[in-house]
Amino acid sequence: MSLIEQAAKRLEQLRKAGVHVHGSAADGDSASAEASADNRGPSDAVSPPASPSATTVTARAAAAPTTASAAASAAVPAAATAPAAAVSRRVEIDLQALAARGLMSPDAPRSQLADQFRVIKRPLIANAMGKGVAPVKRGNLIMVTSALSGEGKSFTAINLAISIAMELDNTVMLVDADVPKPSVLKMLGVPPARGLLDVLTDQSVELSQVLLRTNVEKLSILPSGTQHARATELLASAAMVQMLDEMASRYPDRIIIFDSPPLLMTTESRVLAGHMGQVVLVVKAEGTARSDVKHALMTIDACPVKLMLLNQARTVSQDGYGYGYGYGYGYGYGSEGA
Ligand SMILES: Nc1ncnc2c1ncn2[C@@H]1O[C@H](COP(=O)(O)OP(=O)(O)OP(=O)(O)O)[C@@H](O)[C@H]1O
Ligand SMILES: [Mg+2]
Repeated sequence: MSLIEQAAKRLEQLRKAGVHVHGSAADGDSASAEASADNRGPSDAVSPPASPSATTVTARAAAAPTTASAAASAAVPAAATAPAAAVSRRVEIDLQALAARGLMSPDAPRSQLADQFRVIKRPLIANAMGKGVAPVKRGNLIMVTSALSGEGKSFTAINLAISIAMELDNTVMLVDADVPKPSVLKMLGVPPARGLLDVLTDQSVELSQVLLRTNVEKLSILPSGTQHARATELLASAAMVQMLDEMASRYPDRIIIFDSPPLLMTTESRVLAGHMGQVVLVVKAEGTARSDVKHALMTIDACPVKLMLLNQARTVSQDGYGYGYGYGYGYGYGSEGA
């Protein structure tokens, strides 16, 4: 049943329950009646009635049930009502800013960077979708990390997310879990917003409320959120573990990419890695000491799949040999092969 049909069915249920429904998908203000409350993913959430907003933020039009939810809450069982909390909004990623920062842009799918990521993402997607050599538990949870800071984690996480979102079959959630040093929104040209830390610290905040849909179809973003004195500790909290469990099991068809703090700087990052199906260890070519890489790999030994990605390796430019930015990717599964 399509989401629109589900919304229509919900309306019918409300009517049968004796609730007077003021608006409906057919009433005109519901340009995209997209979700029902029962089986939506975080980015499938019902949005509030359309209201004009800032130029960079576009509110999605309401699904029908929200217009009736206030009345319905008194008259029908909780399971049949749309929770008021389930709201996600849409933001515009500045595609020109992406290109200006050297990031991959969906506008230019045939760049050298895009070609490199086409190769890099393949094994990750195969593992995430259970099409790898062996099944990978929680394979859809992919953490991008590094030994130390400044090795290209955020750059890699964003490019990977955009590259996977451009696939026909895959939807992606990019989580800025580098809570001590968040940068995803800034790199994407999106204004600060609530996110992960708000969900972890406030029980009344739902994931779907802070998740951002974007103009890159199939890509949603979970920002790092409102800064918190114990932000890093929260990454290893029971609430975080519970959220990861829920993400992995509730949205198995969605690939979730985590930008995260460096492994050798915070123990919490290692705890986070322990709950991931796949970890991509970004290594800055000719920048990171071999011993640091080895040490970082040891900290994620228990993770089922580890890929090491050599970033900013010397590449052969189109004009001849040169020192280009780019990804050489010498990676293998497990610490021995890396
Ligand atoms: N392959 C690349 N090509 C071009 N620029 C890159 C590449 N990798 C990283 N950079 C640039 O290097 C800088 C550091 O990268 P990035 O911010 O992704 O690192 P990080 O590991 O996330 O750092 P931090 O630990 O501070 O969060 C950024 O300006 C980024 O745009
Ligand atoms: Mg970063």
